[in-house]
Amino acid sequence: MIIMRTQLMGLILTIMSAIRINALPVKEFARLEDMSGRFQALSFTEAYSVIWGSPSISSLEPDHGDAVHLKLDKTSGSGFVSLENYMYGFYSTSIKFPVQDYAAGIVLAFYTSNGDEFPSNHDELDFEFLGNIKGRPWRMQTNVYGNGSVAHGREERFDFWFNPTADYHNYSILWNQHHIVFMVDSIPIREMIRSEPLEGDYPSKPMGMYATLWDGSAWATDGGRFKVDYKYAPFIASFKSLKMQGCAANPFLQNLEKENTRPLASSMGCTSLETDNSVNPLEAEFLSLSPQQEAAMAWVRSTYMYYSYCDDKSRYPTPLPECTSRVAASSRVLRSRKQRTKRANYRSFNLTSARESGF
Ligand SMILES: *[C@@H]1O[C@H](CO)[C@@H](O)[C@H](O)[C@H]1NC(C)=O
Ligand SMILES: *[C@@H]1O[C@H](CO)[C@@H](O)[C@H](O)[C@H]1NC(C)=O
Ligand SMILES: *[C@@H]1O[C@H](CO)[C@@H](O)[C@H](O)[C@H]1NC(C)=O
Repeated sequence: MIIMRTQLMGLILTIMSAIRINALPVKEFARLEDMSGRFQALSFTEAYSVIWGSPSISSLEPDHGDAVHLKLDKTSGSGFVSLENYMYGFYSTSIKFPVQDYAAGIVLAFYTSNGDEFPSNHDELDFEFLGNIKGRPWRMQTNVYGNGSVAHGREERFDFWFNPTADYHNYSILWNQHHIVFMVDSIPIREMIRSEPLEGDYPSKPMGMYATLWDGSAWATDGGRFKVDYKYAPFIASFKSLKMQGCAANPFLQNLEKENTRPLASSMGCTSLETDNSVNPLEAEFLSLSPQQEAAMAWVRSTYMYYSYCDDKSRYPTPLPECTSRVAASSRVLRSRKQRTKRANYRSFNLTSARESGF
């Protein structure tokens, strides 16, 4: 009996150490500050509303706020939006993707926008996730529109380094007077610094936070060749830890601005944060990346980014002005197409090569 128990313990320890080995890279990356962990989750009913479809909402433990499950089936996609718009802010959520068996044509988006308030010159910061055919992984795209610059898509595309359908991962957008940073599990994957060349294309009007799940059959997978297959429906994307903090814009002042064309930021002041939590995404500590964040970003970009608008010569024979700046050039290392097509699935972190990159 005792021997059996010892053997059982041995087996359990073996399994546990196997699990630890898998978890190790994630632990390494946890040395990066968990930025989203510094902000508080909001309750869905207090901070958001449904825009279409019928998401289901359930309460979680207090740390994670409410869980929201967006559904895509034959009848409808679904989505929600924040009740308030923020002038600069930190927007974040934890997402578990719909099962990857067959996800072609599905578009899952987490983004900020003010398209309803400023239809002709809106701003937008996007995480867009595109489903794929059986056996091929989801892909991730980021994009930035400033003041209606929709003719100038600024897309960048990445492969995942984990399976986003297996577990929750954090997707965050930091936007302040100095820069815009897209983060995945606290690892910055893209930084856009507010620089001279960007001029009016730097988003500068309050934005709300959106999450949507919809049918993008017309274009999302291989240019529309593979459509959503409702045989596998319903598709469910789960969200938790919905976080949003910045300077809440006053809708009254927004209307005033529309009538008087007064500059919004100055009429708002953007000074008070309506929250008891004192973390402020506009303060000094959020205005630049740490050396460790820089190293992590360079590593992710050189390993997982496979498209940047800055390198799309057929689309932009003359690169957009910010592309030729020092910052853009130094943080852009594209993998070759060959390297990309060779790979069939999510690669996991390679700790050795991560360490060699300095973090
Ligand atoms: C996501 O963020 C939460 C804090 O909001 C943290 O507890 C969790 O470890 C993060 N998950 C990952 C995969 O980084
Ligand atoms: C934004 O667009 C509006 C309308 O096209 C224009 O009047 C305004 O000057 C632009 N703002 C900036 C900062 O370029
Ligand atoms: C990890 O990276 C190192 C150094 O770049 C390389 O030598 C090694 O083969 C890689 N290991 C795996 C499992 O890919």
